[in-house]
Amino acid sequence: MIMQFSADEKFAKQLDAEDPLRSYRDKFHLPLGKDGKSLIYFAGNSLGLMPKSARQIVDQELDDWEKLGVDAHLGAKTPWYTYHEPLREPTAQMVGAKPVEVICMNSLTVNLHLMMATFYRPTKSRFKILMEDPAFPSDTYAIKTQIAHHGLDPKDALILARPRQGEFTVRTEGIVDLIEKHGDQLAVVMVPGVNFFTGQLFDIPTITKAAQTHGITIGFDLAHAVGNVPLAMHDWNVDFAVWCSYKYLNAGPGAVAGAYLHERHATNTQLPRFAGWFGNDPNTRFQMEKEFVPVPSADAWQISNPPIFSMAPLRASLSIFAEAGGMEPLRAKSVKLTGYLEFLLDNAGAKKFAVITPRETDARGCQLSILAHEHPKELFQKLQAAGVKCDFREPNVIRVAPTPLYNTFHEVWRFAQILGSHK
Ligand SMILES: Cc1ncc(COP(=O)(O)O)c(C=O)c1O
Repeated sequence: MIMQFSADEKFAKQLDAEDPLRSYRDKFHLPLGKDGKSLIYFAGNSLGLMPKSARQIVDQELDDWEKLGVDAHLGAKTPWYTYHEPLREPTAQMVGAKPVEVICMNSLTVNLHLMMATFYRPTKSRFKILMEDPAFPSDTYAIKTQIAHHGLDPKDALILARPRQGEFTVRTEGIVDLIEKHGDQLAVVMVPGVNFFTGQLFDIPTITKAAQTHGITIGFDLAHAVGNVPLAMHDWNVDFAVWCSYKYLNAGPGAVAGAYLHERHATNTQLPRFAGWFGNDPNTRFQMEKEFVPVPSADAWQISNPPIFSMAPLRASLSIFAEAGGMEPLRAKSVKLTGYLEFLLDNAGAKKFAVITPRETDARGCQLSILAHEHPKELFQKLQAAGVKCDFREPNVIRVAPTPLYNTFHEVWRFAQILGSHK
C-alpha cells in the first residue's frame, strides 16, 4: 500500500479528523507533563496506558472481597474461582487461537519455563535450541538455564541467529539456514514475534514451517507482538507461545501473562508438565486426589489459582480491543501512524539518525527504533524535556511506539518536529 503523506501540520490534523478510531484515546488515562498537558506517550511497548474502565473492575473485586470474603470465590460478580474463563475467548482472539489453546496465568518468563518443561526434552541426538541474538535478556536467561537444568552446556546446545555484519535485523533466510544446518540436532526453535530492540516483526509462518519440516518444536515470545500486530497462532500451526499483557494489552504493571499451546498439545493429557491443582480437571479438583488429572486444554498448565488483581484490568483492556473491532482495524491505523512517522523522520534529516526497524510494513509492528548518530543521550533528554515519553536503549537507540488505540497523527507530527530540531 503506497501512502501519500505531507509534512504540513494541517495534514496531521486532517488524518486525526478522518481516523475512525479517534474516540478510543478518550478511553485511556494519559499521563500529564509538568505543564499539565498530556505527554506524547510512545512507551506502550514498555507499559501500556491505563484504561479508564480498569478502576471500576478492580474496585468491583475489592468490593466483593470486602463484602463477601471467601464467598467471593463463587459469589463475586465475576466469580474468582473461574476468573480465567471470561478471559479465554478475548485472549484467543488476540493471538488467533482456539479458546481451548490459551490460558492467562503467571508472568511471561515463568510461562516460558513452563512451556520449556513440556517441550524441551533433549535427547542424545536432539538437544539444541535456536534463538535470536540479541534477544530480551530474560529469554536468554530462561533458555540457558533450561539447557543447564538438563545437564547440558549452552556452549554446545545454544544456537544463535544473529543479524549479518552491518545489519540490525535477523533475516528470515538466516534463521531458516540455521534450522537446516542443525535440523536433526535441534529440539526447539524459540524466537520473538516482534524483536524488543529493533521492532522487527518475524515471519512466523515461514519460520514455523521450516522448523516443523525438520521435526522441531517451535515457540514464540509474543511480548511485543500481541495487541500490536494481527496473529494467527492456530492457523500458522505454531506449537507454543507466551506473552505478557502490560505492553500493548494495557493490563497494568506485572499483569497476568498468557500462554498458547496448539490444540494437539493442549488436549494431550499425556504431555509432561509442571503441575498444580488449577491444572487439574475442575470436576475432581476438590476431591483432593493424590493423582493429577489434567484437564484437556491449555488450562492444564495453570498451576495456581487465578491472581484476581492482576487479571481484572486485562478484562477492561480486552473489551476495548473487542469494541474497536479487533486487530484488523487497529493494524490498519497502526501501519498508517508508523508509516507517517517514518515519512516525517525521512524528511527531518536522515544524516542525524537512522531508523533501524525494517522499512517494509509487513516486517514491523508499530515501533520504530531510531539510532541517533550524534549526542544520542542529549537527544533523548531533549525529547523528555519536550514532553515525549519514549525510551533509550544503550548505546544510542531511541524506541518509539505510537499505538493506534491512544496515539494521534498530530502527536507523531509534533514528535518529528522536536526530533528534527535537534542540532
Ligand atoms: C521480549 C520480552 N521477553 C521477556 C520479558 C520479561 O517479561 P516478564 O518480566 O513478564 O517475565 C520482556 C519484558 O519486557 C520482554 O520484552
